[in-house]
Amino acid sequence: MSLLIKNGRIITAVDDYKADIYIDDETVSVIGESLDMQADRTLDATGRYLIPGGIDPHTHIDMPFGGTVSADDFETGTRAAAHGGTTTLIDFAIQTKGQSSIAALDTWHQKAEGKTAIDYGFHMILTDMDDGRLPEMRQLADEGVTSYKLFMAYPGILYVDDGTIYRVMRKAGDDGTVICMHAENGIVIDEIVKQMLKEGHTAPKYHALSRPTRMEAEGVHRSIAIAEVAGVPVYIVHLSSADALEQVVLARNRGVHVFAETCPQYLFLDHSYYEQEGFEGAKYVMTPPLREKWNQDALWRGLKFGDLRSISTDHCPFCYKDQKELGIDDFSKIPNGGPGVENRLSLVFNGGVLPGHINLNEFVDLTSTSAAKMFGLFPKKGTVAVGSDADLVLFNPGRKETISVNNPVTHNMNVDYNAYEGFEITGLSETVISRGKVIIEDCKYVGRKGDGQYLKRGYYSG
Ligand code: URP
Ligand code: ZN
Ligand code: ZN
Repeated sequence: MSLLIKNGRIITAVDDYKADIYIDDETVSVIGESLDMQADRTLDATGRYLIPGGIDPHTHIDMPFGGTVSADDFETGTRAAAHGGTTTLIDFAIQTKGQSSIAALDTWHQKAEGKTAIDYGFHMILTDMDDGRLPEMRQLADEGVTSYKLFMAYPGILYVDDGTIYRVMRKAGDDGTVICMHAENGIVIDEIVKQMLKEGHTAPKYHALSRPTRMEAEGVHRSIAIAEVAGVPVYIVHLSSADALEQVVLARNRGVHVFAETCPQYLFLDHSYYEQEGFEGAKYVMTPPLREKWNQDALWRGLKFGDLRSISTDHCPFCYKDQKELGIDDFSKIPNGGPGVENRLSLVFNGGVLPGHINLNEFVDLTSTSAAKMFGLFPKKGTVAVGSDADLVLFNPGRKETISVNNPVTHNMNVDYNAYEGFEITGLSETVISRGKVIIEDCKYVGRKGDGQYLKRGYYSG
């Protein structure tokens, strides 16, 4: 099957030019002006940006957490991602305590195989790595799992102590792999949570008040210091605050290989969402929590100047009804996480490019290219180039929509609310191509369950 895309404006992390693209089967094979070639199908991209498919390097699909399971499975979650212009997800497999991480990877393969609309890879959340198990990390890397997430938060669940962090980091440094860090001082936070509950503070907003930015900054500082000594690059996930970003900037100025991502929720939502009537704030119970609005200026500066390298979603949806409600009498029982995989590109274009926080090349870099480089997918993914996978989005920069759980153009996630309900956005992914196949056409899903493939990722290339 061949596909010719005419009259597009191709935007990558470094280029911006008008050309046609000829796709032979799954890969881009010719890019040129006014291509006169026969193809099985021709698309007209006049007035559209042709950008590389989005890469979301942080999702939690079908994830057991907080006494329940995240509401999207690999079918619904990847389909919703495709609607939003994302053609690759890197999700998190989880090794439970005492379990072989190789067996854990197998569990996640079974969850995803044959179900996905788009390509996907896995990081591995490690919770248990004694010396006997450490060689498993090399095996995981051979299976394409070249990054691991460690948690300084959630004691008794996903938390690992500093000794484990150091041991795993050294091994990752030896193997050339990367550590993703959930950086928050979970031990102190748990004490604050107990104290708040004892004082009778049970409402959702106390989730946020129990997790001060200083505790995030401390985790970021500590994880960078351990990584520096262990000799491994560290990638701070879901960075939410100016305090935490300051630690990244200080370390980068010292020459440490530290990278960080933030997420749309920290750029476009803020602490006031917890102050809504009743239990509504539960929709925004996520970790780290939403911060005071003034933090957003610092995050945009971090994105503009390269201290924040990527915008992921941390998509971890739980329905308001029945799932978030598990914590109706106790904020610490509200499952942590929120939806967002579908709305990332529109939100970042509308709220990042249009007001001038970032330019179009930075938009592509932050939503695709940089994650491809960081997580061993570049140049197969993350760019528009001859030889790269034909993962492409025809993005309409003038299309206006209102994000709503009731608008099928903006909400296909399997969750009963949208965190950005009522946001009026300009800029939408209208047609999405995954490895040469059109899977979203005029905002409608035309792909097939199982079109997506597992990606054996290579090594980080900065
Ligand atoms: O609240 C969140 N972020 N839930 C998902 C798990 C995590 O910490 O990333
Ligand atoms: Zn996390
Ligand atoms: Zn997460």
